[in-house]
Amino acid sequence: MARLTAAITGVGGYLPPDILTNADLEKMVDTNDEWITSRTGIQERHILKEEGKATSDLGVEAVKDLLKKSNTSKDDIDLIICATVTADRVFPDTANNISYKVGCSKAFGFDVNAACSGFLYSLNIGAKFIESGTYQKVIVVGADMMTSIVDYQDRTTCILFGDGAGAVLLEPSEEGFGIKNAVLKADGSGLPFLHMKAGGSLRPPSIETIQNREHYAYQEGKHVFKRAVNGMVESTKEVLKQANLSTEDISWVVPHQANKRIIDSVAHMLDFPMERVMVNIHKYGNTTAATIPLCLNDYENQLKKGDKLIITAFGGGFTWGSTLVEWAYDPL
Ligand code: COA
Repeated sequence: MARLTAAITGVGGYLPPDILTNADLEKMVDTNDEWITSRTGIQERHILKEEGKATSDLGVEAVKDLLKKSNTSKDDIDLIICATVTADRVFPDTANNISYKVGCSKAFGFDVNAACSGFLYSLNIGAKFIESGTYQKVIVVGADMMTSIVDYQDRTTCILFGDGAGAVLLEPSEEGFGIKNAVLKADGSGLPFLHMKAGGSLRPPSIETIQNREHYAYQEGKHVFKRAVNGMVESTKEVLKQANLSTEDISWVVPHQANKRIIDSVAHMLDFPMERVMVNIHKYGNTTAATIPLCLNDYENQLKKGDKLIITAFGGGFTWGSTLVEWAYDPL
């Protein structure tokens, strides 16, 4: 029997309807459209404003979109992995909540917390359940409601983030399509540069942590920027080497969308043409675990069976890596 690989056989996405523009941010902090656009490439982001809604609701819509587009029954899903840093609650997991709300009657699930690399990690975890022959239909959803942890008094970070969710379906392939080589990395010494100071077991919520505004994402952007470029470039080179491929063999690079200048630098250092780099940061900002599936969703009509994609990401932890994907289907 041929060795099974885990093919991506469908993509879905969801952006909440409300939009936060650079002009809106100008009214909230000391910033301006010119600075944001030239330093980050971001023009607007979608934000979830509806009372009582959370990350799982973004994930639910992305999963429903995926099931509809791929003509898949919710009852056939074996497993849902949710990559997120903005879980609805500390526990239980958001994947379970998504599964329940969609009505995936037999699916089990769990969350993966690897910040902006969460989708990349989860894709590879999901692939293992398919490759082993254990399951036939695995959904990997990246969902984040970043507005719930962004400090709208901190102009250096609040301009970057948005809310959204994207999802892919993994199914077995006997033709070798899907997730191939991967290089996944982590370095805990990156913690001081990107983290949330309170809300976990180290500093449980208290009046003091709230008064100190410690429940927001804290970032030292300059350091993160340099490490992100380096991590994405080096892990991509390593994947290409493992697979015995060069950048000429690659149809598309799918980078995490944190800053357009990071994406430009990665493409430049890999000597890869920008026309084949997926970019949607101008519309959505950084949606953390959702950026990569939202790129796949936006570019789905341009992807052809057999295309080789490099997915690359970097995020808090630090976490980073790259994976090679051979696309399994032609435009719908
Ligand atoms: N509007 C206007 N000015 C701003 C500003 C804003 N929103 N934010 C910062 N500035 C100012 C700074 O105060 C600084 O002023 P100074 O020179 O008078 O001190 C100046 O702009 C430059 O700030 P700096 O931090 O050096 O800018 P930068 O070019 O590094 O851009 C980030 C800042 C955050 C956009 C950038 O570092 C970045 O994107 N980092 C990586 C973020 C990331 O990838 N995060 C997610 C990880 S996956």
